[in-house]
Amino acid sequence: MRSRSMSEAAGRVALVTGAARGIGFEIARSLGGKGATVLIGARGAAAGEDAAARLRGEGLDAHFLPIDVTDRASVDAAAGIIASRWGRLDILVNNAAVSLERDVPPSAADLDLMRRTYEANVFGLVAVTQAMLPLLRKAPAGRIVNMSTGLASLKLSSGREAPFSFSRLLAYNTSKTAVNGITVQFANELLDTPIKVNAANPGLCATDLSNGKGRPPSEGAAVAVKLALLGEDGPTGGLYGDDGQVPW
Ligand SMILES: NC(=O)c1ccc[n+]([C@@H]2O[C@H](COP(=O)([O-])OP(=O)(O)OC[C@H]3O[C@@H](n4cnc5c(N)ncnc54)[C@H](OP(=O)(O)O)[C@@H]3O)[C@@H](O)[C@H]2O)c1
Repeated sequence: MRSRSMSEAAGRVALVTGAARGIGFEIARSLGGKGATVLIGARGAAAGEDAAARLRGEGLDAHFLPIDVTDRASVDAAAGIIASRWGRLDILVNNAAVSLERDVPPSAADLDLMRRTYEANVFGLVAVTQAMLPLLRKAPAGRIVNMSTGLASLKLSSGREAPFSFSRLLAYNTSKTAVNGITVQFANELLDTPIKVNAANPGLCATDLSNGKGRPPSEGAAVAVKLALLGEDGPTGGLYGDDGQVPW
């Protein structure tokens, strides 16, 4: 018999964007391990197929779903595939993101890199959320998790003494501050529905994005998985890390 944790997400369909590697892969692996059908959203077919096959090899119900969050046609096509094959979406984890800058002061930040960062991290996230919302509304208790970061927190980065004031990634950090605001806006729109929308701070995890610095990505994935499986009495419209709510 499956234990509760192995069946906690049984029957749910979960899409994780950017799930072929890093924290996204670990979120998909964990949700799959709890019984969810996991859709490995990835823009590269080979990497996406590979990741899904790896999880199927672990006994999970995993499927590659082509999706480039910056390409509206691919986002709409992904929604179409989910609609025709599964008819609904229980969990959306907006995980895909880029960090393209070097450590430079804001006065020297490259505007082109900033635009490209916002295309993926901000506009891509909104496009995916809008496209998937009709499917999330068809689920009994839809959950949206937006991957954010402590570096997005204005409180934790304002002033000399603030823990993250050292970080000089104008595009990345502010794109995630926008993600925090977008989380609140969607949560408000959906207050009278069963859908909950929260942001997750995975903490520093050793992936390509962090140049391999930090803890194992499986540990960072845990908070996102928890938010993806929130019960009816759970919160909406907040930013959460390992130790609970993170200040905006
Ligand atoms: N690592 C950390 O310390 C850390 C800390 C705080 C927050 N986060 C957040 O956690 C999330 C995952 O980060 P990570 O560290 O796992 O990063 P990562 O290893 O660099 O993985 C990023 C993923 O996003 C995908 N992606 C990028 N642009 C995309 C697009 N246009 N369409 C579809 N997929 C796209 C990448 O796909 P390709 O393989 O095709 O490039 C990759 O699968 C991000 O939202 C990040 O901001 C990470």
